[in-house]
Amino acid sequence: MISAFRNDPGLQQQVHDIFFESSVRQDFESDSDRVAFRKMWLDPYVRHYADEFFIYEEPKDVVLGYLTGCSDSRAAAENFSGPDFLQTIDSIYETYPAHLHINVRVDCRNKGIGAALIEHYVSHCRSLGLKGVHVVTARESRNTNFYNRLNFKRVHEFTNKGKTLVVLGRKLDIAGE
Ligand SMILES: CC(C)(COP(=O)(O)OP(=O)(O)OC[C@H]1O[C@@H](n2cnc3c(N)ncnc32)[C@H](O)[C@@H]1OP(=O)(O)O)[C@@H](O)C(=O)NCCC(=O)NCCS
Repeated sequence: MISAFRNDPGLQQQVHDIFFESSVRQDFESDSDRVAFRKMWLDPYVRHYADEFFIYEEPKDVVLGYLTGCSDSRAAAENFSGPDFLQTIDSIYETYPAHLHINVRVDCRNKGIGAALIEHYVSHCRSLGLKGVHVVTARESRNTNFYNRLNFKRVHEFTNKGKTLVVLGRKLDIAGE
């Protein structure tokens, strides 16, 4: 079942665990380095976009995966001390104003949980009347298959810190596009 995130310490801990186990970065120099990473990629969504934070729980209070969304990426880029590449993708915000981050617990992957969370967020964005949603990921990442299957198409590509990143976008005005 997909629910809105509830500010409960038990749920928070499970989300933190999934966040760190799923992250491409696993080498933290110190606890403060680890906290800084979380402050960039997770905490702003809890603080500023809690109503766009969804968990997949089964049974209740057991988190199998989560999605953090942000319906106004341009405002977020201006307000968050987020990653340094956000200004470079400013041109895509007009067509794809929302963005998301998604992680599923390691032992629960490949069961459709990720797809269900994405479709839930797409419905949420449609209900807000948004034109599109995007994600940023590494060009070589396995998750590009997942997004392609869910109708996210490559709309931009750029290099950041020696890594090729892609912006994958899904338009929401036409069903299935
Ligand atoms: C990507 C992810 C959210 C998909 O959730 P899911 O519940 O496993 O997805 P579904 O069951 O709906 O679809 C399965 C597809 O997910 C992708 N996937 C599965 N395991 C994955 C993994 N460890 N890393 C990246 N993608 C993965 C694959 O594309 C898979 O299809 P394939 O086997 O045909 O390649 C989930 O696998 C995950 O959390 N991966 C690690 C973190 C990540 O990449 N997050 C997205 C950052 S942009």
